[in-house]
Amino acid sequence: MQKTITVLPGDGIGQEVVEAATKVLDKVAERYGHQFEYRYGDIGGTSIDKNNDPLPQETIDTCLQSDGVLLGAVGGPKWDNLKSGMRPEQGLLGIRKALGLFANLRPVTGHESLTDSSTLKKEVIEGVDLVIVRELTGGLYFGEPKERREIDGESGAVDTLAYKKSEIERIVRQAFEMAKVRRKKLTSVDKANVLETSRLWRETVDEIKGDYPEIEVEHMLVDNAAMQLIREPKQFDVVVTENTFGDILSDAASMLTGSLGMLPSASIGSKAPGLYEPVHGSAPDIAGKGIANPLATISSAAMMLKYSFGMLEEADAIDNAVAEVLRNGHRTGDLAKPGEKALSTEEMTEKVIDALK
Ligand code: NAD
Ligand code: IPM
Ligand code: MN
Repeated sequence: MQKTITVLPGDGIGQEVVEAATKVLDKVAERYGHQFEYRYGDIGGTSIDKNNDPLPQETIDTCLQSDGVLLGAVGGPKWDNLKSGMRPEQGLLGIRKALGLFANLRPVTGHESLTDSSTLKKEVIEGVDLVIVRELTGGLYFGEPKERREIDGESGAVDTLAYKKSEIERIVRQAFEMAKVRRKKLTSVDKANVLETSRLWRETVDEIKGDYPEIEVEHMLVDNAAMQLIREPKQFDVVVTENTFGDILSDAASMLTGSLGMLPSASIGSKAPGLYEPVHGSAPDIAGKGIANPLATISSAAMMLKYSFGMLEEADAIDNAVAEVLRNGHRTGDLAKPGEKALSTEEMTEKVIDALK
């Protein structure tokens, strides 16, 4: 098959991990007789530097004309206080919105060989297999007004948490569909004891569940969910939640796997190409050192093969290669125990490529 992939490396380790993932995709193409054509686009801080815009129209157009988008990460201290008020993160939010990517799937899969790498106890995390279905184009991130404003005579700021019912319905249906092909349990996470949007969310889940009688549904308040994820993560199968809660819970959940550098994601919508990106950010503290864990982005590329290209065997081959490399004891610094040898990004990538042979 011939596929066109838009590659948006972005900032910091985004550049390093995306390079790793394209090398793995090249190996898959060679082994299975596909052609992947990459078109590179600007986004984030590097795009502010180059184009004075975190998301040039050209980048959006390139994405729209491709079969899938692979993104690294955006952001960094260099762009945190620009006089223009521009931010790299606007590029990321903008591309998600422009492509209508309302569903962000964040699988959290424990590798048996990594149970020692987590700060949590082995028996708690062994066999963890859950997916967070995060709403991605609504809520606090996008609600208007969003502004600096005087409140009660002093300076203040406003963000708005708003959801249309249709926005809740489509993400909740997406989550039910996932639960159907998994272990048939759905946990909807909200703050219905306080927030009106959460009460609408809960009502909507209860309406839709009639269409999925085979799925066990439970509601959980987000503060409890944060605790339960650490206490007994194996109780979860599919977790569906709004944008901000999903952002926070998924970083917490990453520690069930041993590192934030392990968590991939797929952002999908109803028509535009899907966007695949690691859950982590640009990691300014390690950027440029060549030591970032590339596995989250490599696994995100596998999700692209599966969800956007229907290449199930190829996606499995990548997942199996990653599992094998970890079983063989290879670790980047974020996973290595004290005294254990840590591989560079490039060395880890080569191990995955070798395991694909
Ligand atoms: P971060 O995810 O970049 O880093 C958090 C910690 O995890 C750091 O110590 C980092 O070194 C480590 N880490 C992250 N990914 C790693 C990997 N692949 N291998 C090894 N270690 C890894 O979060 P942060 O430091 O809070 O944010 C830094 C910047 O990234 C901010 O500008 C933020 O806005 C941005 N950010 C972007 C995205 C994205 O583009 N999707 C996601 C999160 C944060
Ligand atoms: C993520 C990131 C982004 C988000 C930021 C960088 C805008 O944290 O993808 O998880 O909050 O969605
Ligand atoms: Mn995040």
